[in-house]
Amino acid sequence: MSLTVGILRETADGETRCALSPEVAAKLEGLGARIVAETGAGTAAGLPDTQFKSVEFLSAAQVAAESGVLLSVGRPTAEAVAGLKPGSVVVGMLRPYEADAFVRRLKDAEITAFAMELVPRISRAQSMDILSSQAAVAGYRAVLLGATALNKFLPMLTTAAGTIRPASALVIGAGVAGLQAIATARRLGAMVSGYDVRSATREQVESLGARFVDTGVKAEGEGGYARELTDEERAAQQAALADVIAKSDLVVTTAAVPGRPAPRIIDAATVERMQPGSVIVDLGAEGGGNCELTRAGETVEHGGVKIVGPVNLPAGTARHASEMLSKNLLNFLSPIISEGDLAIDWEDEVYAESVLTHAGEVRFGPAKEALEEGGEQ
Ligand code: NAI
Repeated sequence: MSLTVGILRETADGETRCALSPEVAAKLEGLGARIVAETGAGTAAGLPDTQFKSVEFLSAAQVAAESGVLLSVGRPTAEAVAGLKPGSVVVGMLRPYEADAFVRRLKDAEITAFAMELVPRISRAQSMDILSSQAAVAGYRAVLLGATALNKFLPMLTTAAGTIRPASALVIGAGVAGLQAIATARRLGAMVSGYDVRSATREQVESLGARFVDTGVKAEGEGGYARELTDEERAAQQAALADVIAKSDLVVTTAAVPGRPAPRIIDAATVERMQPGSVIVDLGAEGGGNCELTRAGETVEHGGVKIVGPVNLPAGTARHASEMLSKNLLNFLSPIISEGDLAIDWEDEVYAESVLTHAGEVRFGPAKEALEEGGEQ
């Protein structure tokens, strides 16, 4: 029997993205798959049902029952998981570090679940990298949010009413989101500085025409990621950065360490040194914030400084964010579709490392340990 790939309407609050674009649906059909979708699955992303040619639109329960592979943006609901056949596959951003009832449900239902966050960041897998594609959207939107919240222009303006100096922007964390934020702030004409604890980022920041802030703190970790700073390093970093932050009109923070809470980089005392009207956009908001004063989903004012704590920024650019993540999912799936059926290559690190649950077991080590410690296995 040939493979059926399904998508449901996303149900998380504020989620507008969709796991399948019409272009990717056509490509999957070309690989021999049948595509089923819940009615209206793409509507919030600006992808109405009419744009999906030869996709069968069904009820949510029918999609779950008929899908051999369910593609999703975030975690499918308990109802959807309960409706899947044992042995079926779920692929999406499943938040594998939060080992909870959701992971237990996947295990008990004998679902093979792949968490796209765990796909190894090797060259071959770059085209599957959802973290990168969505981080780029977030970095772009963070600057736009900051630009509109700021009481100044970003670019230099020469007008009959005088010359306006360009605003100064600082981007903390120069990973995928940070580099996109730097590029966006440059395009808008700001004077931009960038900072990261990984020394490889200096060249990347400078190649975008921004100044690199050197605090003397270096913290390269495993797999090209940053590691957590020691207390001494954190203090040295805060002291060196505080002066630059105080002089910046717009600060965008994107610092993250995988599987850990967002590193705390800006304290209240530093915010108090900023000019009234300045803005901090904290992309670490969902992970607890890079700034001490951040509140996820809110804009806090402190001494005239606005601290914006956005959640799920990519959903704001849902059309392109969906197209990108849908391509990532296609690139993940296509190597394991053979003659219209699924053949997972467990020898391949891409699938071996990204699997969260399989055949009634939790396969991702940290989630397995957390569930066992909680007495939940
Ligand atoms: P991320 O979202 O985990 O973190 C964002 C940035 O914050 C990172 O650059 C990190 O170094 C920085 N950071 C962490 N703690 C910090 C602190 N205390 N102060 C200042 N900055 C701090 O990272 P992202 O964007 O997901 O990627 C990071 C790494 O992964 C990079 O080396 C990137 O080149 C690599 N990468 C590799 C890919 C591939 O080969 N397929 C694809 C995408 C990224």
